[in-house]
Amino acid sequence: MGRNTKNTTRALHWGFGGFVLVMLSLGYYMTNTPYSDGLYTWHKSLGVILSATIGIRIYWSIRHPWQSSTSLGKIESWARKVTHRLLVFLLFAMPASGLTSSAFSGWSVHVFNFTIVPKNLNAEGEVEAFSVTIYEAAKLTHEVLGYLFSTLILLHVAAVLKHHFLNKDQTLLEMLKFKK
Ligand code: HEM
Ligand code: HEM
Repeated sequence: MGRNTKNTTRALHWGFGGFVLVMLSLGYYMTNTPYSDGLYTWHKSLGVILSATIGIRIYWSIRHPWQSSTSLGKIESWARKVTHRLLVFLLFAMPASGLTSSAFSGWSVHVFNFTIVPKNLNAEGEVEAFSVTIYEAAKLTHEVLGYLFSTLILLHVAAVLKHHFLNKDQTLLEMLKFKK
């Protein structure tokens, strides 16, 4: 794995990692405060942009698995592999379930003022789901996967901090330091 390849992985990891943390924060904040159109617009608009670009990050991660110099025991190396694979799977499944629930909800999918799936109003002018079944299944999936994602990210960060502060190895520094 060359220097440029590793730097690309670093840039993608921190760029999309930050993006995901913003999406999670918005998601929890907007569903736990008095209803605000504005926050939903941000979550959906950024979510569509994320959905459109996440393929790059996923492709790269599968094509160029991160190689760290830290040697791990059997169980740790298994845990690392499983966690990383699940995180990459969720990078696909979170936007996919969010898009599906939004698209079928009748509430519209948009990137700020640009509409992708329009609102669906019935004769009384009320919002009506295109399919209640698909909407509710996707919404539940989005919620449950959100908990799984949050848990795995906490586990991921805890493992990294353990390596950095207790084992005092290069795990975190290798991912942080861009090399010329
Ligand atoms: C990595 C991407 C994403 C993450 C991490 C994320 C995270 C979250 C979280 C944590 C919630 C709160 C769940 C709950 O407890 O109800 C949420 C809700 C929601 N998300 Fe996402 N989301 C993502 C992408 C998307 C996308 C692409 C869309 C649609 C374009 C979307 C639409 C929604 C909607 C409409 C809700 C509110 C559901 C409700 O009314 O309860 N999300 N999201
Ligand atoms: C502040 C938070 C984070 C820190 C400190 C951090 C740190 C790291 C480090 C040090 C590695 C290399 C691990 C190794 O050598 O085995 C790594 C890999 C990885 N991290 Fe994170 N990370 C963070 C957030 C995230 C988030 C939010 C995601 C979301 C999906 C994520 C997904 C991954 C994945 C998939 C890998 C495997 C390598 C790859 O495919 O790019 N990380 N992370």
